Amino acid sequence: MEPTIRPSAPVRGAADDPGTSASHALLTPERLAELARELAPGTVARRRDFHMWPELSFQEVRTATIVAGELGDLGLEVQTGLARTGVMGTLRGGKPGPTVLVRADMDALPIDERNTHGFVSRAPGVMHACGHDAHAAMLLAAARILAGHQDQLHGNVRFVFQPAEEGPGGAELMIEAGCLENPGVDAIIGFHIWADLPVGIIGIRSGPLMASSDEVRLTITGHGGHGADPHLSIDAMLVAAHVLVGMQTIVSREIDPLIPAVITFGKAESGRGHNIIAHEAILSGTVRTFDEALRKTMPQRIGRLAAGIASAYGATCKVQYSPQYPVTVCDRQMCELVGRAARTVVKPEQVVEAEPTMGSEDIAYFLQERPGCYFLLGAANPDKGIDKPHHHPEFDIDEDALPIGVQIIVRSVLDFLTSRS
Ligand code: NI
Repeated sequence: MEPTIRPSAPVRGAADDPGTSASHALLTPERLAELARELAPGTVARRRDFHMWPELSFQEVRTATIVAGELGDLGLEVQTGLARTGVMGTLRGGKPGPTVLVRADMDALPIDERNTHGFVSRAPGVMHACGHDAHAAMLLAAARILAGHQDQLHGNVRFVFQPAEEGPGGAELMIEAGCLENPGVDAIIGFHIWADLPVGIIGIRSGPLMASSDEVRLTITGHGGHGADPHLSIDAMLVAAHVLVGMQTIVSREIDPLIPAVITFGKAESGRGHNIIAHEAILSGTVRTFDEALRKTMPQRIGRLAAGIASAYGATCKVQYSPQYPVTVCDRQMCELVGRAARTVVKPEQVVEAEPTMGSEDIAYFLQERPGCYFLLGAANPDKGIDKPHHHPEFDIDEDALPIGVQIIVRSVLDFLTSRS
């Protein structure tokens, strides 16, 4: 995903009361912090190992093998090969109760790493430049702590390690593979290391957090010819230029200005020579919205305008519209629950309301199916030189974020299970 988030106001909600929570009777915040600290060297080592051996989407074979091995060692029911390289572990608690799913992603990006630390990528042209190495390592540590309390758990925990978040998307395939069933999942917890928040800061937002993201491709066909004879041709490149300008009026003139939307055409292909009138022009773009109802209208809006403009010039326009990730919408109650959990791990004022971003995430598919919270785990630390954005060749994280994330995951899981028992 492509983050643009800054810390803002603290998340509203009552402060947690450590004295009365049933989940605190099971595992006190102090004991949880101690466990996370004890596991931290292993969590860091695991993250660095994943970092050294990054794998692209749907190629997460080594990562999945390690994840499945660790989950198996912890005594979980493990399923592999879901959505090709996905892994799922199920921890069945000793007492009856609901089921909560925690999701991590495992894939890396086609980027040449430019960091110089001792655990840089050993795979040329592939890099964990989004933090998914840390996600998988943290979820394994959380699984270890929760497995240690299996007998006392009021319900079940499902750990999902999905492939291909960076695209084309593994979440939808994991759901199709049955990861919301048997036992039926009641709630979702997701998280992302966040380069735009300092380490120690947690960002949470109920409602729409991240945009939908769809891909559009317009193929404009005119009539090629000699550059000297424009009157005998229909110039597809010129028509494309008008279409491109016309597209700018959809967001600015057709859509409620209070609902965010973006149409960006990042690629234009046309023309073979300076004196040849182009027969065809192709425009490729991304369409993002913050509202599923608005999102559904975008193919029609783009198609109508593009075809209309093309037709005015005697050309035609074919529209290929490929839906990708939906809007990421977090559930209010789950956000309050995770917010309370986070405030037992960091200071209350360190839990802030995340600002929405036009980046997108396939956790959205999970959150369409069940109520859930996707929280942002601050991991920047400019004092240590850790200040690069996600997907940058020098992206890095402050590993002090890892035990914080582990504790928030575990506390949220425990709080959810005990709240329903
Ligand atoms: Ni990511």
